[in-house]
Amino acid sequence: MEIVICKTKEEASKLAAGIITAAVQKNPKIILGLATGSTPVPMYNEMAKAVKAKKVSYKQVKTWNLDEYVGLPGTHDQSYRYFMNKNLFEKIDIKLSNTHVLNGMAKDPVKECAKYEEQIKKAGGIDIQVLGIGSDGHIAFNEPGTSLNSRTSVVYLTPSTIKDNARLFFKGKENEVPTQALSMGVGTICEAKKIILLAFGKNKADAVKGMVEGGMSQFCTASALQAHNDAWIFCDEESASKLKLRNYYAWRSATKLGL
Ligand code: GLP
Repeated sequence: MEIVICKTKEEASKLAAGIITAAVQKNPKIILGLATGSTPVPMYNEMAKAVKAKKVSYKQVKTWNLDEYVGLPGTHDQSYRYFMNKNLFEKIDIKLSNTHVLNGMAKDPVKECAKYEEQIKKAGGIDIQVLGIGSDGHIAFNEPGTSLNSRTSVVYLTPSTIKDNARLFFKGKENEVPTQALSMGVGTICEAKKIILLAFGKNKADAVKGMVEGGMSQFCTASALQAHNDAWIFCDEESASKLKLRNYYAWRSATKLGL
């Protein structure tokens, strides 16, 4: 795990977007795994700027998203499909048919999850997986207690995630947040060749501490990244504030990135 500690989320988002832009320039047919939530939005804006400036094209890029709420169609303004269209896909030159988000309305959700796994496998696997982190240390919707080997499946949200996400997606109304989701598994996520996780703000400091300096445990599913050999964690000063070795991580990653 490499921990990149930046002063601000804007700085971290620019750095992370730069890595993705360079990777797409190098491999225009790259397979990206994408995330929702407020955290990646500044990075998506930076990626869109690079497209606008004609530095890069996503015409041949294919994407698979991490998760989707059960019971929300892609047209619903709180669905993750809708979020991705608005916050990234409509701002870059990607073909919508090359973008994949789990179907929360699938008649057979188990089959939908199996199909998703098959599609990713057929595409050759995910080259770069973007992740956020929940305040309880979850990645995608893999809540505490999920096996670190889990595959894409139907999952239940914890009350704390429902509360966190209501704030953002459901205008504070917790009872409107679906209690179930379809989510890539921890095992699925960890098969990505490279991982870029973004964590910003005080609210993520405990989760970052658990992910980086806690033991690998199903009670902080992001800790599975400790066993990945190309995982990059982009923090701002607030989210990194509880890390014991933060000065060492900052120095080491800056050296590796040539900063
Ligand atoms: C949801 C998503 C996660 C995301 C998390 C954090 O639970 N399923 O993929 O990382 O929210 O969201 P935010 O970035 O808004 O804090």
